[in-house]
Amino acid sequence: MNDFHQSLLEWYYKFGRLDLPWRNLPTQSSTPHPSLTHINRAYGVYISEIMLQQTQVSVVMERFYFPFLSLFPTLTSLANAKEEEVLKAWQGLGYYSRARNLQKSAKTCLEHFGGILPRSVNELKTLSGIGDYTAGAIACFGYGEAVSFVDGNIARILSRLFATPSPTPHFLKAKAQELLNLQNPFDHNQALLDIGATICTPKSPSCLFCPLQDFCLGKDKPTLYPTPKKSSLTPLKLYLGFVKVGDKISLLKSTQKLYHGLYNPIVLEEVSEEAELLGKFSHHYTRYKIEAFVYLCPTIPTEEKLEFFTLQEIESLPLSNLCKKALRWI
Ligand code: ADE
Repeated sequence: MNDFHQSLLEWYYKFGRLDLPWRNLPTQSSTPHPSLTHINRAYGVYISEIMLQQTQVSVVMERFYFPFLSLFPTLTSLANAKEEEVLKAWQGLGYYSRARNLQKSAKTCLEHFGGILPRSVNELKTLSGIGDYTAGAIACFGYGEAVSFVDGNIARILSRLFATPSPTPHFLKAKAQELLNLQNPFDHNQALLDIGATICTPKSPSCLFCPLQDFCLGKDKPTLYPTPKKSSLTPLKLYLGFVKVGDKISLLKSTQKLYHGLYNPIVLEEVSEEAELLGKFSHHYTRYKIEAFVYLCPTIPTEEKLEFFTLQEIESLPLSNLCKKALRWI
């Protein structure tokens, strides 16, 4: 266990994201970030964790964290602000219930916790929008409590470390707690978040650079842990038609939102008996797993605004990938 802790921390001090502002709030042993000297540590951590729930670190840091804290530098100022002002400051971050919950919780803290965020995980979890992970993160990063917690990144690391294809939440919580470094929970947990974000990534983890490789049972086949979720793609059969007139081929300019302005084959609702099947192919498009059948049609469907082009002319048209694949059969 000592070796595990030491490898993790050595890596963190060399390669971790030590400068992130919410890791340098007052009362940390390091000098606080110059713009955050007046920000209460638990409050600053709370705002960062809520922003980071659905938004990338770079976006939070560059566009939202500092402006929000200068408008609402304390939990009390957040509680007393107009809801509109809070939502305005949140504009661009999306998922506005996060902002409403922040303010609701700030009000609860004024009423029940003396205007500060509570320190214990159980009390934190009574606040709106704060679940197991966020409560643990505030207790640890805001108050230095020796608590563990599991988010998606930490879950993946643990699943791989223990080569467990489908770990239960109970298993993950227990392992996170077993591995916790009680001497330095702050850096230990921040380091795990960094390993998850930069090394132990979902699709192609960089196991050779991982400080935990000597301890990892899953490193030979990391992408098996956790078992990749079954694709949620919806199967769809498409019947695509072209009409040929001399050396020209029919295409249809899409007015639909997704393919707008691109040329496509006709999507046939019914395939006539005279249509000749040229071939089929598979294709992915947004959430659809398409099986496409390509037909040469003898007649022109009257209701469609077809345009006709030679193959050479087609080369300079904007085409959907679906159309490019279908044209290979012509
Ligand atoms: N995502 C959630 N919490 C984070 C933190 N403290 N540092 C970096 N990314 C995070």
